[in-house]
Amino acid sequence: MTVNPLSLPTDPERAALLRDARGTAPFFDSRLKLWVVLDHEKVAELLLDGRLAVPEVDAALATVEQRYDIGLPNLRWAAKELPLVINGAAHRRARSGIAKLLSADRKSGGAWREPVRRLVRDAFAAAGPVEAVRGLLLPIVNLAFASLTQIDVSFEPFTLTRVFDHYTSYRQLVAVEQHIADLRGRLREAGIPDESIGAHAALVILGRDSLLSSLAEGVLDFVLNCRGHRLNDTSVAPPRLFGGVAIAERLVTTPFEFAGITFEKEQRIRLYLQGFSYLESETERLAMFGVSEHSCLGRALALEVWSVLASGLREVALTVQSVDFAYERHSIFTMPRFINLALVSAHDSDTHDAPSDPGGDSDRHG
Ligand code: HEM
Repeated sequence: MTVNPLSLPTDPERAALLRDARGTAPFFDSRLKLWVVLDHEKVAELLLDGRLAVPEVDAALATVEQRYDIGLPNLRWAAKELPLVINGAAHRRARSGIAKLLSADRKSGGAWREPVRRLVRDAFAAAGPVEAVRGLLLPIVNLAFASLTQIDVSFEPFTLTRVFDHYTSYRQLVAVEQHIADLRGRLREAGIPDESIGAHAALVILGRDSLLSSLAEGVLDFVLNCRGHRLNDTSVAPPRLFGGVAIAERLVTTPFEFAGITFEKEQRIRLYLQGFSYLESETERLAMFGVSEHSCLGRALALEVWSVLASGLREVALTVQSVDFAYERHSIFTMPRFINLALVSAHDSDTHDAPSDPGGDSDRHG
């Protein structure tokens, strides 16, 4: 099977493509001008290799400013606060500020838990149509982040992370500049001390879309498996979280040999993280959060939110009659833009004889 690195993350056959990619060597994609690594074991090995660095975005932003004769002060500020685009000592500083915020939230016991449970119960209280992304998952993410930051941090999906997207247009970049200015303003107004605004903003920018996309991928996988069954049907495999962060990128700082090829200085390497989500072992699947010094700081929180959501879904006695969804276009995240569910009561599904594999899916992944 040939793999198109651009369409792979949302390919309906991605599970099989990633399975087939096990043991394969990295290959150079001349269109994207980067190395592509699909085999999850090599991805893990390379993430841990000290000769690779995360690509910093500050210089690229400076070039955009010059070319279009505009100022992007908020993006330039964020580029120095987001650990995922910083290396060395500055990275360790940024990371530790965020870790402190997350640990303070853990100590406060997670005020989001009960309201999240209620959201799940209310969304599935009665038979009928449910749109799960905006109707359930976005409100859950907003609740979790309000509890973390003590302010309203609701934003449309991807408004803050377009800056990482390779498809981002100039117009979208200017919009992100405005959204980050807005986020900084909200944090300032809420009385967050100046020295901690960067950590709060980085937490929101890196965490919200990662959490939303992963919850959406996990819910989509589960409801597709549930078609023709009740959500609480124990013959259906229990819900599993799927990483919505599809790839990580690195830059070669020192040339080296790897799996029979030579990585040259300054070459870019794209590491596909999705392969981890398809592993059987729950421990190995955790590598969907990364495994290196840049690995996810929000992992514990994300797993807790998922566990509350997943156990709520498992209590719903409604039958999934059909699922309709379509993917968002983004080069880093994979996420259904919407998940439309038609839910019927167990009684109706018996009397109307719901088909076990109803049509209407606009896409399907394995
Ligand atoms: C299921 C949800 C999530 C997934 C799958 C996920 C995944 C990831 C991945 C793959 C990375 C980059 C690893 C690398 O490039 O080596 C990352 C980094 C990061 N994530 Fe998450 N994440 C999730 C949720 C969150 C949440 C909820 C937060 C915050 C509350 C968060 C905060 C961060 C931060 C701060 C980093 C940057 C770490 C660094 O560069 O040192 N993430 N995440």
